[in-house]
Amino acid sequence: MNKFLCCTLVFLDISVKWTTQETFPPKYLHYDPETSRQLLCDQCPPGTYLKQHCTTRRKTQCEPCPHHYYTNSWHFNEECLYCSGMCKELQYVKQECNSTHNRVCECVEGRYLDLEFCLRHTSCPPGFGVVQAGTPERNTICKRCPDGFFSNETSSKAACRKHTNCSALGLQMASKGNATHDNLCIGNTEATPKCGIDVTLCEEAFFRFAVPTKFTPNWLSVLVDSLPGTKVNAETIERIKRRHSSQEQTFQLLKLWKHQNKDQDMVKKIIQDIDLCENSVVKHIGRWNLTLEHLSSLMESLPGKKVAMEDVEKTMKLCKSTDQILKLLSLWRIKNGDQDTLKGLAHGLKHLKTYHFPKAILQSLRKTVKFLHSFTMYRLYQKLFLEMIGNQVQSGKISCL
Ligand SMILES: *[C@@H]1O[C@H](CO)[C@@H](O)[C@H](O)[C@H]1NC(C)=O
Ligand SMILES: *[C@@H]1O[C@H](CO)[C@@H](O)[C@H](O)[C@H]1NC(C)=O
Ligand SMILES: *[C@@H]1O[C@H](CO)[C@@H](O)[C@H](O)[C@H]1NC(C)=O
Ligand SMILES: *[C@@H]1O[C@H](CO)[C@@H](O)[C@H](O)[C@H]1NC(C)=O
Ligand SMILES: *[C@@H]1O[C@H](CO)[C@@H](O)[C@H](O)[C@H]1NC(C)=O
Repeated sequence: MNKFLCCTLVFLDISVKWTTQETFPPKYLHYDPETSRQLLCDQCPPGTYLKQHCTTRRKTQCEPCPHHYYTNSWHFNEECLYCSGMCKELQYVKQECNSTHNRVCECVEGRYLDLEFCLRHTSCPPGFGVVQAGTPERNTICKRCPDGFFSNETSSKAACRKHTNCSALGLQMASKGNATHDNLCIGNTEATPKCGIDVTLCEEAFFRFAVPTKFTPNWLSVLVDSLPGTKVNAETIERIKRRHSSQEQTFQLLKLWKHQNKDQDMVKKIIQDIDLCENSVVKHIGRWNLTLEHLSSLMESLPGKKVAMEDVEKTMKLCKSTDQILKLLSLWRIKNGDQDTLKGLAHGLKHLKTYHFPKAILQSLRKTVKFLHSFTMYRLYQKLFLEMIGNQVQSGKISCL
């Protein structure tokens, strides 16, 4: 009993030894027919195969693998392994075969191996973001954007992005974001010490057609209901109503609507052409460096309530020279409730001569007024716009248009 136990222990000791890495090179048991003994032979290293087992007199003999064959670990096989064949379609050779490594194939960029095929990585749709990018072995993992995050694209790379924090930017939230849309922020013109022209001359020229000749109390809500696409939310409409005079409310609403629907083809076109108009206006009047005296004479010449001298000074400080006249005209419009800036400016130009205003600048201003009056596209837009909201017009919902 004792003896048996002892032998078992010895055997265990040996078996542990030659299966662990404690002995190097690793060994294997071989029955030697010549001596009828069990021998512990050295194994062969990677890149070779076993040519001859060891004997009591000679170590194991290993030979290098032939071309296109390999072994990648210590072993006592009498043959090397054949390197795998060509890579599959849409795979490339990541590692060529050599005596110690098999050929490694990998799916090309943007694909992963699924059974036999290299499939394209899934793109996460809007509302979903990538939590784990795809690899050559694994597909993309998408997850619905959690609260406070959004993804507005179809992408196999992009994660969900945090909603813009409007208040942190000193802006107000015009519409709350969701999984597919960012928060929409709008400028808080009172708080931001910027030039900030709210509604430009070109926007005014274009939006003016939508201003009714008679305002009814629910005018703005009627217009909101009639506009196609993404609606401006009720909270924002209330804020616009609180802050602005009736004509300005229309401009503000249309400006916001334009921004919120900027991806619609029709609106894209409108934005493009308003940009063109603005470039033209800046070309006419943006190239002058006007002095404080010039600017205040210009403001003095306009009818109605005057823009305060300190506002003219502030504008000179905050606005680039290209924006100063435009900013002052927008201040005048806001101050004068429901006036038409172009009419005001045309009126002013008649009186500017008495202020000894530089002729060249006067001429540029005249050209600007003329350009905006003949803003030919403007009539075209009106037509487009009316077509867009044609259904409502036909059903008599916006009779004031
Ligand atoms: C075989 O290729 C592998 C990986 O490319 C490399 O690490 C190894 O050194 C190569 N072996 C020989 C013998 O060239
Ligand atoms: C937005 O920013 C403000 C000020 O930095 C912070 O107090 C507020 O918690 C932020 N809101 C979110 C939703 O992160
Ligand atoms: C997310 O918000 C956008 C714009 O505000 C809206 O068009 C869309 O329907 C909303 N999506 C969901 C799932 O609420
Ligand atoms: C996605 O949202 C970002 C941030 O609001 C915006 O800049 C971008 O234009 C949007 N992309 C698309 C395709 O709507
Ligand atoms: C206006 O001033 C800017 C810099 O202050 C200058 O580069 C530009 O040439 C000036 N333009 C005119 C028409 O005087």
